Amino acid sequence: MKDYFPARLATGNRFCNRVREQALLKHNIELGRHMVLVSPRRYGKSSLVHKVVGDLKMPAAYIDFFMAHDDKAVTSRILQGVGTVLSQIIPVTHKTLQTLEKTFSRLKLSITVHGVEFSAAYGQKEFDAVAEIHDALKGLAAIAAKAEKRAVIFMDEFQDIINAEHSQEIQGALRSIAQAHDSIVFVFSGSSRHLLLDIFDDRKKPFYMLCDKLELERMTSEHYFSYVQKAAKEKWGKPIHDITYAEFIRLTELHPFYVNLLGNQLCRSEKFPNAAAVLQAWQECLEMERRRLVAEVEHLALNQQKVMKFLAQHPVTEAMSQAVLGQISLSSASMKQCLTALLQRDLIYQVAFEDPLLPLVKKGQYRVLDPLLAFSLNQY
Ligand SMILES: Nc1ncnc2c1ncn2[C@@H]1O[C@H](COP(=O)(O)OP(=O)(O)OP(=O)(O)O)[C@@H](O)[C@H]1O
Ligand SMILES: [Mg+2]
Repeated sequence: MKDYFPARLATGNRFCNRVREQALLKHNIELGRHMVLVSPRRYGKSSLVHKVVGDLKMPAAYIDFFMAHDDKAVTSRILQGVGTVLSQIIPVTHKTLQTLEKTFSRLKLSITVHGVEFSAAYGQKEFDAVAEIHDALKGLAAIAAKAEKRAVIFMDEFQDIINAEHSQEIQGALRSIAQAHDSIVFVFSGSSRHLLLDIFDDRKKPFYMLCDKLELERMTSEHYFSYVQKAAKEKWGKPIHDITYAEFIRLTELHPFYVNLLGNQLCRSEKFPNAAAVLQAWQECLEMERRRLVAEVEHLALNQQKVMKFLAQHPVTEAMSQAVLGQISLSSASMKQCLTALLQRDLIYQVAFEDPLLPLVKKGQYRVLDPLLAFSLNQY
């Protein structure tokens, strides 16, 4: 059986749903509008970009800045990305290499089995991250324009560059390229929502108002239905009952990571599942993930833990009402502080959409974001 519920990127026909988001991202890329994708962790940002860019069949680079905490790492990843796209735009031969060397006068180029590769001048005194990045991207823009192509550059885990020595200047260079050249379109994303928003929403920083923002929400039960049933037919020879499916959705709350975690856990058993088996598999997921979940809450201030526990048991819309404050024994100032901190860290969220299979999840409610964490807090 194929891996219907991957733990990593959802690629190919394992990618479900996100119809509106795919269309919007595709449209913007085609128009050359830069995008920033924002969501809490594990909502499917990277999967979405890979899917759309893959379908568009445009020259593209996926640059992952995970742990790129200094100028050298940031430069090397950008140069590597630029090399990858270049090789998709022009055939790399010794003849084209000469042309490229003229365009990228500051950088050293070589041909490898993967295409063109740059070597940066690290270690040398004259190493200048900002100039190298600017030259590489400017050169790429010129070559793409000449070939009448547009290149997509996806910068993932982008918030990790903020610790680089010249982060602000690098961001400035990226902005100037993004503004000056139609032949490159940037898509930014990252798993730390608030750090990312710090970069893009602060009027004093280079990226202010550079990009259209796409905020990813949860999935819908309607879209998952046929997919889950296809997996069930392949696994157990028949579709699961509606009640079983409803339990699957109730527990995962349409959080894409958890849909896959639970789906995968269920598929490990040869026995055709009923609703009780879904709950059992969810308990098994909790055993697997318990340590991580504990780590997420144990460092929180006591009041914040209290609010988490309360919201896991009683999701409320009017979190600041006297009734709620009384029940939880917090002053309104403390409650406000807790809500702000927990929202910012994506530990709780405010519901934006209702789904027919989640009748208890109401628009405007404050809820614990992680459904498995909410489930475990409910057990105490
Ligand atoms: N459209 C989708 N269809 C099916 N599964 C998906 C979809 N999007 C995401 N997933 C699943 O959700 C999980 C998280 O996906 P992904 O890594 O793309 O999210 P992310 O938002 O980039 O996460 P992070 O915040 O950690 O970077 C993975 O298990 C992935 O397979
Ligand atoms: Mg990601």
